[in-house]
Amino acid sequence: MSKPSIDLSELYKPHPKQQMAHKAIEQNVLYGGAVGGGKSYYLAAEGIQLSIDYPGNRGYMCRQKLTDFRISTLLELKRYMDATVIVNDRGKQEIVELIPQHHQTENYFRLYNGSVIYYGGIGDDREGTTRVKNMTLGFVAVDQLEEVEEVNWNWLLSRLRLQLPGIHYKAIATANPAPGWVKRKFVESKLENHIFIPALPRDNPYLPDDYESNLRKWFPPEMVKALLDGDWDSLEGGNFLFRYNEIKSAINRLVEDGNLIVAGVDLSKLESIKQSNDTKWAGIDIAREGDDSCVFTLRQGSKVIYTDSWGKTDLMESTGIILQKIERFNIDPKNVNLDAVALGAGIYDRLREQKVYINGIIAGGEPMDKEHYVNSRAEMYDNLRKRFEAGTISIPDDQDLIAQLSSIRFKIASDKKLQIVSKEEMKRTYHLKSPDKADSLALSFYEPKINNPAIRWL
Ligand SMILES: Nc1ncnc2c1ncn2[C@@H]1O[C@H](COP(=O)(O)OP(=O)(O)OP(=O)(O)O)[C@@H](O)[C@H]1O
Ligand SMILES: [Mg+2]
Repeated sequence: MSKPSIDLSELYKPHPKQQMAHKAIEQNVLYGGAVGGGKSYYLAAEGIQLSIDYPGNRGYMCRQKLTDFRISTLLELKRYMDATVIVNDRGKQEIVELIPQHHQTENYFRLYNGSVIYYGGIGDDREGTTRVKNMTLGFVAVDQLEEVEEVNWNWLLSRLRLQLPGIHYKAIATANPAPGWVKRKFVESKLENHIFIPALPRDNPYLPDDYESNLRKWFPPEMVKALLDGDWDSLEGGNFLFRYNEIKSAINRLVEDGNLIVAGVDLSKLESIKQSNDTKWAGIDIAREGDDSCVFTLRQGSKVIYTDSWGKTDLMESTGIILQKIERFNIDPKNVNLDAVALGAGIYDRLREQKVYINGIIAGGEPMDKEHYVNSRAEMYDNLRKRFEAGTISIPDDQDLIAQLSSIRFKIASDKKLQIVSKEEMKRTYHLKSPDKADSLALSFYEPKINNPAIRWL
């Protein structure tokens, strides 16, 4: 007797590389490499397929962070929610809902045949992870495995022991190129029962025509090699400050009144965060040379709520623009950080004369933490990096900003302090545009302890 099947071809037609990944007979499959290859689409489809193939199957699908899963992989899974037609084992079409139940609070889907797909964040969803810890599963699927710790992956594998007739266990994953254990395990070692299938944007006919050329324009060469050509070695030097994934995950991250919506946090707790965390801060980067721009970034709590940029102007005009924004958004001047070098120093003085006591920040000046940072620019950027890592930042979908952030490089100074490659060096050595938007963002998230107007003379 043949198995019932369901026609999902309206929703998903795998391209050849995706087909290769679907057909892999190995238990552990990494479909990975460059961006935009169709990895998340593959992962969602394979999860659905495994649930259909083995009625009563139980799968766990996740990313490192549940919040990121919700705004990426979960959306791909949800596409299958309206599918209805199924062909029964006698070849007749029946109207059956593929996914009759989506439990949004409990984070699972139940399928028509009794299979259940649980989902969560393996790194941040403690409740969900504890639940899965006690389960026996038929498959696991991890999107962006390079974000996940190896112990968590191993532990997921140990859950694969659900007893079902004829079941083939599957552990599938996607990843972007990054140095680390994923590369070691799937790309470098030829482990039994493991397969690595490279994914490149040019494999994916469904991307917009200018997808690849746009990215090539925006990103520095090492990033291009990794993200577009799937070169797992190019970032081995590790000299970029921000991980591409973390920048991407921060775009329009869900926030409420300036606060991140954290999965599993009840509203009463959210209320308390709300009160403490909706302060407005502004960061202003001032143009140095002709083709630079002045950039104003305003955030409320963790979320950037407004940005504006204007070309290099004279002192009075920029002072006027800034003053107007401080008033319009009703920002406390002590929460305004201005790049107070060159033209910025003049603006700083003009604002002081008008009794607007903002913070003048000298990028090359002394940091609060002298032990770890060469200067305040390094401190500022490293604070920003921690926010991207922790997922406590939401930025607008701005290609310029994303490209600038991903081009920020760091060096380790001889005394093991962190140093950020200067704007001048970025322009001269790497022929990149001055990262004015990124600097302005870093300034807006910097919270100098000393609100002393003299800080600029340090
Ligand atoms: N088989 C397919 N059929 C139709 N569209 C597809 C298919 N595969 C991918 N796409 C399209 O290509 C886009 C990129 O696919 P997907 O998001 O799965 O890529 P990805 O490799 O996960 O990207 P990223 O690196 O950004 O996470 C999707 O938004 C979708 O529009
Ligand atoms: Mg994806």
